[in-house]
Amino acid sequence: MSKRVLISGALGHMGQAVLASLNAGDGSLVPAVGIDLQKGVFPGALFSSADQVDVPFDVAIDFSRPAAAMAVLDLCLREKKPLVIGTTGLGEGEMARLKEASQVIPVFFSRNMSLGVNLQLALVQAATRVLGDAFDPEIVETHHNLKVDAPSGTALMLAEAIEGARAGESELVFGRHETNKRRAREEIGIHSLRGGNKAGEHSVYFLGTDEEIIITHRAGSKRVFADGAVKAAAFLLEQRPGFYTMKDVIRM
Ligand SMILES: NC(=O)c1ccc[n+]([C@@H]2O[C@H](COP(=O)([O-])OP(=O)(O)OC[C@H]3O[C@@H](n4cnc5c(N)ncnc54)[C@H](O)[C@@H]3O)[C@@H](O)[C@H]2O)c1
Repeated sequence: MSKRVLISGALGHMGQAVLASLNAGDGSLVPAVGIDLQKGVFPGALFSSADQVDVPFDVAIDFSRPAAAMAVLDLCLREKKPLVIGTTGLGEGEMARLKEASQVIPVFFSRNMSLGVNLQLALVQAATRVLGDAFDPEIVETHHNLKVDAPSGTALMLAEAIEGARAGESELVFGRHETNKRRAREEIGIHSLRGGNKAGEHSVYFLGTDEEIIITHRAGSKRVFADGAVKAAAFLLEQRPGFYTMKDVIRM
């Protein structure tokens, strides 16, 4: 029998991409419930907030804003349903709430749901281990002019990957405006560009003496993230309560 999917942020760019991904699937997951502040057309019951939802669903996928994501988390806890969260810009307290909820329901969280970026993370870790302190890592991310948070969640994931693979300490440095000193060895620079309709590009520069390595991922459309989230939802329906990430879904 088909499993009913609740989409939070249903009328947003990602919500619509999730809808397209579900519609292109094999019918095992179907859109059933939508939540969005905006009014619009949705193939199922549409609510303007999570606390109004009074129809059944089997799994939820959220691409909205942090406050709305937390409201969906409360709904999933109440209904004991698994939740995939793709919303970025969550604070420490919100991440702690996700972890706590994962003791009761399966929770999947990834700041980037694409297969390619998850491979990029592994490549960046390998490069960090091989290159060591001889190369300076700098991350540059580019996104469309509607993106609200900066730096991107993926840029932070890439920085964490470098941090984790390094032998020594790391310091994240955002921008470098108003910085009047030489680059320290432990720095990981993070820089954000915004413009046009670019779905998302992340480059990690390893800058050495007379040589450099650049590991770049380019997303052509938001569909790559939506497909990943739908895959994660199917995976989560088979899982016990716990905190899951893309690493659990993708074998590398
Ligand atoms: N994890 C990933 O792979 C990935 C990929 C792309 C985007 N994102 C993130 O997903 C989120 C959404 O991105 P988007 O491009 O679809 O944004 P968007 O602005 O197009 O869509 C967000 C939708 O959420 C709705 N919304 C906002 N607050 C709400 C509330 N309180 N209650 C109900 N609905 C509410 C808005 O009306 C809007 O339709 C962002 O945080 C973005 O960074 C994550």
